[in-house]
Amino acid sequence: MSQQQQWTAMDRYFTDLLGTDDKVLEAARRDSDASGLPPIAVAPNQGRLLQLLAQVRGARRILEIGTLGGYSTIHLARALPADGRLVTLEYAPRHAEVARANIARAGFADRVEVRVGAALDTLPVLAAEGGDPYDMIFVDADKDNYPHYLEWSLRLARIGTLIILDNVVLGGEVLDPAAGPRAQGIRSTMEMLAREPRVSATALQTVGDKGWDGFALALVIG
Ligand SMILES: C[S@@+](CC[C@H](N)C(=O)[O-])C[C@H]1O[C@@H](n2cnc3c(N)ncnc32)[C@H](O)[C@@H]1O
Repeated sequence: MSQQQQWTAMDRYFTDLLGTDDKVLEAARRDSDASGLPPIAVAPNQGRLLQLLAQVRGARRILEIGTLGGYSTIHLARALPADGRLVTLEYAPRHAEVARANIARAGFADRVEVRVGAALDTLPVLAAEGGDPYDMIFVDADKDNYPHYLEWSLRLARIGTLIILDNVVLGGEVLDPAAGPRAQGIRSTMEMLAREPRVSATALQTVGDKGWDGFALALVIG
């Protein structure tokens, strides 16, 4: 068995045992795949981690940057109270269309809004609308723009907001000084976190069905 097969088997063991996947989530993934969306959603156990973190945070307002077919969105929406709100930003209209259908089938059309456009265009609109700050922000879109997404996240946050940045390892590419703009985007973001006095941050590497990757957690403290 290859190392990747072992990681996948271990993820499957946890997911089957702990029930981190179910018919609604499976249907969202199936319809995303059938619609030709790339298979780059978070794994079921990672999705449950997002839900748990949002629950621990007591999140009533969640922002997601990078929707795809709404798989992680559904996990996050499950943490919201009935009057909670989740805004998720997606560049590709087709992805947004599939996500809206998946989110509606999951029963969250009333509290989740999918906004279409490049996040660097939709984030200023969101800020200009002047709503309450977000309690939790999940960043999972184009990696080269992560430094901008971190800046916008801080603008839309309050003390106590939890910011999660996905894919901060990229199979180890992030340590390669010759790596391309995606890895450079992650490195710049990690350096920003290191010198940002308003956050307390850490990063973890993970292995699993999605290979070798990781995520950063930043709690806004000032
Ligand atoms: C890794 S996928 C998101 C996966 C999703 N969070 C999940 O786990 O189910 C990244 C998504 O970000 C979108 N994206 C890429 N560039 C973007 C941009 N500039 N603005 C908004 N979304 C973008 C892609 O179209 C893709 O759907």
